Amino acid sequence: METVGAAIARCARVLGRAGVHFGHGTDNARDEAAELVFFAAGIAHKAGARAYLRPLSLRHRRRVDELLQRRMTERVPLAYLTRRAFFAGLELYVDERVLVPRSPIAGLVQRRFHPWIGARRVRRILDLGTGSGAIAMACARSFPRAAVDAVDISAGALAVCRRNARKLGLTARVAVLRSDYFDAVRGRRYDIIVSNPPYVGRAEIRRLPREYRHEPKLGLAAGADGLDAVRVILAGAHRHLSDGGILVVEVGNSERALLRSFPHLRFIWPHIDMGGGGVFVLRAQDLGANLEIGQ
Ligand SMILES: C[S@@+](CC[C@H](N)C(=O)[O-])C[C@H]1O[C@@H](n2cnc3c(N)ncnc32)[C@H](O)[C@@H]1O
Repeated sequence: METVGAAIARCARVLGRAGVHFGHGTDNARDEAAELVFFAAGIAHKAGARAYLRPLSLRHRRRVDELLQRRMTERVPLAYLTRRAFFAGLELYVDERVLVPRSPIAGLVQRRFHPWIGARRVRRILDLGTGSGAIAMACARSFPRAAVDAVDISAGALAVCRRNARKLGLTARVAVLRSDYFDAVRGRRYDIIVSNPPYVGRAEIRRLPREYRHEPKLGLAAGADGLDAVRVILAGAHRHLSDGGILVVEVGNSERALLRSFPHLRFIWPHIDMGGGGVFVLRAQDLGANLEIGQ
């Protein structure tokens, strides 16, 4: 009988040879294989390496092979097959209505955006383009005295977000709202506005590996240079930040286009310990009405 450890090694070899793309929660074949086998065998992650010597039943081995096959032939991100994703220590429900959560903003939430804001003063947080609610839920957990507004334009994404708020027992502090960016939160001010908006430019979208085609286009595409959403956020943020508040936005590979379009803005580009980049922080005092003319 194959053990859990042997199944993980086998799946990692097969995934590696198949040339699938990793980038939806894991960045290598071994980690992805471990998640696949643990899920298929119903093993909790906290069992860790202790589980590696367990034998896989025939039923679990069949399940492993089915998942492996679909992952390779359909190029579906594994999270859509398992219907789960891990983000900032939380387990979330996900399906094709939402992007698979993977934002490096997780690392900033876990350090409570230190040193850009004092955590004790944070009472109101807005997550723009919340998708599964990953960032909103992680913020609610990291700031237990804060109320979080989680907004998205996609009704499907909001259904997933609500499900996650229930699953994590956060419905009392996370309000889930349908909104075209700031439209439904007019007049509200926040200590932190955080967003992982769509930011993939037209040319880059065409080059993305097949796995990304399973994700909602609304979560990725952002015009010719990838900055359509970021422009809206930059233009509106000053009307919604409290004094001393901060705006935190992921822009990924669109960082260079952003710097060209907004050369006068004092972006801070934090180093993120867990890896990843392309996330900026802006302080309320460095944002202003002049942003509405950003090209
Ligand atoms: C890159 S995904 C990020 C999802 C989630 N924040 C995460 O990090 O996993 C961007 C999200 O923005 C949402 N979105 C796109 N256009 C929007 C708009 N005009 N107003 C609000 N949300 C929007 C999409 O539906 C999608 O859920």
